[in-house]
Amino acid sequence: MKTQVAIVGAGPAGMLLSEILHHHGIDSVVVERQSRDYVQARIRAGVLEQTTVDMLRQYGLSARMDQEGHAHDGMKIVWAGRSEFFIDVHKHVGKRFVAYGQTSIQEDLFAAADRRNARVIFNAGEVALHGVDTDAPSVSLELDGRRVTIECDYIAGCDGFHGVSRRAIPADVLKEFEKIYPFGWLGILTPQPPLPDIVYANHPRGFALASMRSPTLSRYYIQVPLDTNIEDWPDARFWSELKARFPAGMAASIVEGPSIEKSIAPLRSYVAEPMSYGRLFLAGDAAHIVPPTGAKGLNLAFSDVHYLSRALDHRYRTGSPDLLASYSETALRRVWHSVRTSWYLTNLLHRFPSSTAFDQRAQEYELDFLKSSPSAQVALAEQYAGLPLEHT
Ligand code: APR
Ligand code: PHB
Repeated sequence: MKTQVAIVGAGPAGMLLSEILHHHGIDSVVVERQSRDYVQARIRAGVLEQTTVDMLRQYGLSARMDQEGHAHDGMKIVWAGRSEFFIDVHKHVGKRFVAYGQTSIQEDLFAAADRRNARVIFNAGEVALHGVDTDAPSVSLELDGRRVTIECDYIAGCDGFHGVSRRAIPADVLKEFEKIYPFGWLGILTPQPPLPDIVYANHPRGFALASMRSPTLSRYYIQVPLDTNIEDWPDARFWSELKARFPAGMAASIVEGPSIEKSIAPLRSYVAEPMSYGRLFLAGDAAHIVPPTGAKGLNLAFSDVHYLSRALDHRYRTGSPDLLASYSETALRRVWHSVRTSWYLTNLLHRFPSSTAFDQRAQEYELDFLKSSPSAQVALAEQYAGLPLEHT
């Protein structure tokens, strides 16, 4: 098989890249290790920055999001039952964010791929990258017992944190930055009406978050120790622990229901530099991971895809590889700002086992300052809403 761009991974990054390249007349083949149903069934993020909404709209992928997505002016922070405040992102920076599930985005991306008869290979085994530092790279894979090789001009590594692409960058070239947090998030999905706002709770018992996927689908999380077993958390225990972490009035308005999804995710911050090597370009979780506190993972994947698709279009239209050469540096600027913001919010809102009484007071007065200082809220609003995509 031959193509211009071989894309490894059919998650949000890989499928959006394939869609945008198609719009620019650039041919691609997507190679995915799992089945389509498996990829579709993943339940992950749910908050879209304005830049993500704009990208989906620009490429004709926003019809369902406009119908079912829920635009928010801001989010609430409550802490220690003491106090609550609303950060009005729209008032501070003139942007909104949209609650719309990644699962829905994945469906929309697959439906768009079907409409254009995109070449997406599912259930690909033993995927391997070859010649990434040559002018003739390729991707090989096992398919129905046969070895297939895809010759291409460029490879986009969109295969997530556990993929193979990042490993194609030599160890003496790759620099890795990582922080592992001493807790995880236990999350559930329940077919009940959510609270009106996204609410972050800092409580002596631990962090909690109230969010949504639609007017009839709620998403909740509580911070749990790393060694937590999901079997120890029947729904009844989850609901009582969740409500214990919100002020009584707010807890009383949380509508309990059966969990249709329940899982524990560990929290880490991770960045791999550079995000490119020869003809290989990493995008999304293949290059970076953020703790979900800032709702940045999906949005960062899409900003990488914005820069990479722009660079590839520039290359094929003008012959100039300049934007490809600067892709890593450009993408990493926005990556690190999102990574830092996610780290800041994780430190601000969670209870750390190693925290001293001093650390605890300092955290509470940081929250107090955020509540009382409009300029502190503008700074957070600017980052939470998402920095502009650079058009340099
Ligand atoms: N070969 C082919 N495909 C692979 C391989 C491999 N060796 N390894 C992993 N994959 C596939 C995975 O099965 C997955 O479908 O690559 C895809 C990577 O998708 P994501 O992990 O969703 O990563 P990304 O597209 O960057 O999206 C990042 O979405 O999943 C969330 O938390 C994530 O919010 C973040 C955003
Ligand atoms: C979610 O709805 O899954 C969600 C919302 C806000 C976050 C993280 C996750 O910060």
